Amino acid sequence: MFVKFSVLLLAGALVASPATYGAIVQKRAFPFVDPSIGGGSMLIDTLNGAGEPLNVIISGLSSPAVLNEDGIVNYARAIGFSEECLGIHLGNPFPANLGDGHGPVNQTIELRQDYGNSEVGTCLESLIGGNHFRVYFQNGPSADTGAAFLAVSKEKPVTDNHDIVDDGYNIGRNDLVSAALGTTSFDGVTYVTTAQNITGLMAAGAEGVNHGIAVDGIVTLLTVNIQ
Ligand SMILES: *[C@@H]1O[C@H](CO)[C@@H](O)[C@H](O)[C@H]1NC(C)=O
Ligand SMILES: *[C@@H]1O[C@H](CO)[C@@H](O)[C@H](O)[C@H]1NC(C)=O
Repeated sequence: MFVKFSVLLLAGALVASPATYGAIVQKRAFPFVDPSIGGGSMLIDTLNGAGEPLNVIISGLSSPAVLNEDGIVNYARAIGFSEECLGIHLGNPFPANLGDGHGPVNQTIELRQDYGNSEVGTCLESLIGGNHFRVYFQNGPSADTGAAFLAVSKEKPVTDNHDIVDDGYNIGRNDLVSAALGTTSFDGVTYVTTAQNITGLMAAGAEGVNHGIAVDGIVTLLTVNIQ
């Protein structure tokens, strides 16, 4: 509330000096919109009749600089992920429908745990398994919240064809959130992240979930502020 109020004040003040207006990127008005309202789903489509859960949302009320491809990659590096191994894409793109009027859209990017080295660590992840996530932005005309929806899961090694470990959706989410909470930084950008669990967006259980691995139905909403 305080943040929104001060943004409004700032916007009001800037009306007096329009020359500087373009330099300010305002925060959005909503954390996210439930995709089901617009005919979407909290499961991405794994193109085999099932789906994987969008179990983390980065709120649209986060700093705007986090909520685009470059911003999310830098944030991901701050919390122990990086772009896929040497640009070699090891999995198929999977679409998600966030109910924002864009219909099904492939992931913007896929990031993998980097094991402490953002250059070669993701290659290690591909070999030995680990946490990974796909990113989708809710930015269509009917729900332009800017929120980033993440499908997070913990995988087995590449020799097992990137299957998910037992309870890998809940574990992947909890590991990512643990790494993200509090103060983190990468490349001179410092982030402060808070979390809130949401129930009721996604059903608990294994129905329609890829690999038949049950989810607990919890979606964690992260709010990320750049210091
Ligand atoms: C996703 O990407 C694949 C491979 O490039 C493409 O064939 C497919 O049409 C794309 N799906 C969507 C929904 O854009
Ligand atoms: C969210 O739920 C998970 C799983 O029950 C739990 O481990 C985590 O501490 C919860 N986080 C918050 C912020 O409540």
